[in-house]
Amino acid sequence: MRVLVTGGAGFIGSHYVDLRLKKHPQDQVVVLDKLTYAGNPANLKDAKKNSHFTFVRGDICNAKLVERVIQQHGIDIIINFAAETHVDRSILHPEDFAKTDVLGTQVLLEAVRKFKLKRFLQISTDEVYGSIEKGGFRETDPLKPSSPYSASKAGGDLQVLAYRHTYNLPVLITRSSNNFGPRQYPEKLIPLFVTNAIEDKPLPLYGDGLNTRDWIYVEDNCSGLDYVLEKGKPGEIYNIGAGNTKTNKEITSAILKLLKKPCSLIRRVPDRLGHDRRYALNMKKTRDMGCQTQWAFTRALQTTVQWYLDNPQWWQPLKTGEYMKYYKKQYVDRHRK
Ligand code: NAD
Ligand code: TYD
Repeated sequence: MRVLVTGGAGFIGSHYVDLRLKKHPQDQVVVLDKLTYAGNPANLKDAKKNSHFTFVRGDICNAKLVERVIQQHGIDIIINFAAETHVDRSILHPEDFAKTDVLGTQVLLEAVRKFKLKRFLQISTDEVYGSIEKGGFRETDPLKPSSPYSASKAGGDLQVLAYRHTYNLPVLITRSSNNFGPRQYPEKLIPLFVTNAIEDKPLPLYGDGLNTRDWIYVEDNCSGLDYVLEKGKPGEIYNIGAGNTKTNKEITSAILKLLKKPCSLIRRVPDRLGHDRRYALNMKKTRDMGCQTQWAFTRALQTTVQWYLDNPQWWQPLKTGEYMKYYKKQYVDRHRK
């Protein structure tokens, strides 16, 4: 199989590339990635040593480039991880999100149609369902996204489903809960708080800290989406969650405990605009198919914290970037009000 992994230099995509090369050693894997602030060639350090791996720098919105890559490498399937992914950035700059997450997805679908590819897997998120007070969303539930990020991801999903309905394309969608693990950009909750705590910097906890997410270790999401790719039915949507629903306060305490740092590092800051209260997934459909998670939450968090302790050269330079400076300033300004 010749697999095109878009967005493969990011957090989840790069873990999937590692898994694919290990689990399917006969495959050819091509990554197409624009290398935005979130894309990092260092994430593909191991993959680059493999002769079955190729990296192409480029934008999924560029139809000509996408077609050229598919033709040059004889691509059979596309797995689309490429996206703008951070809710806080989507509140500041929504336009990039609509472009990549909606239009970029549509460019890829056109290429699947034109070259009659065998499979297209869209990597989506539980955030498209919106917030739920109790229980978990099913795949059949209506979409009710509430941030520019989740609305853009929902737009991408709707394009995928429309291409299925109209052109009968062999598409699948996975919607996973919040991932964590090594190599996650230190703007998201867990890597931001872990790296801030290591440096004895404040942890900016939004609102009352009781917002809840279901946390899945990145390797479990990658195994799950690989399972869906093999066993899933075209046209279907599959939730991938781990059942680890935790409040942000609980996550923060667990991180501080693992790092033996004081609770005085926690800073309560004003809430994120339009902040979704709780995300959770009903996993019956994916579990009935035989897809299981392997990582217990505590061991996964320990492994993650240890990775950030062992790899400061990976994350320290990222924290001096423009957004992170802006973010810090914004946090300080908000805190002063
Ligand atoms: P990430 O931000 O770490 O990586 C995104 C990657 O996409 C980067 O390498 C970036 O350079 C690339 N990219 C962005 N725009 C591009 C474009 N126009 N053309 C080509 N490449 C482009 O994201 P992630 O956390 O690894 O998320 C991967 C996918 O999984 C996304 O689609 C996201 O919506 C989805 N998802 C993420 C989570 C999570 O918790 N991180 C949860 C559920 C779903
Ligand atoms: P995040 O990692 O941005 O993922 P998402 O918003 O896509 O679920 O945030 C996870 C939770 O952590 C969310 O409820 C917002 C909260 N949060 C903070 O309290 N402080 C922060 O600095 C960040 C980045 C997030």
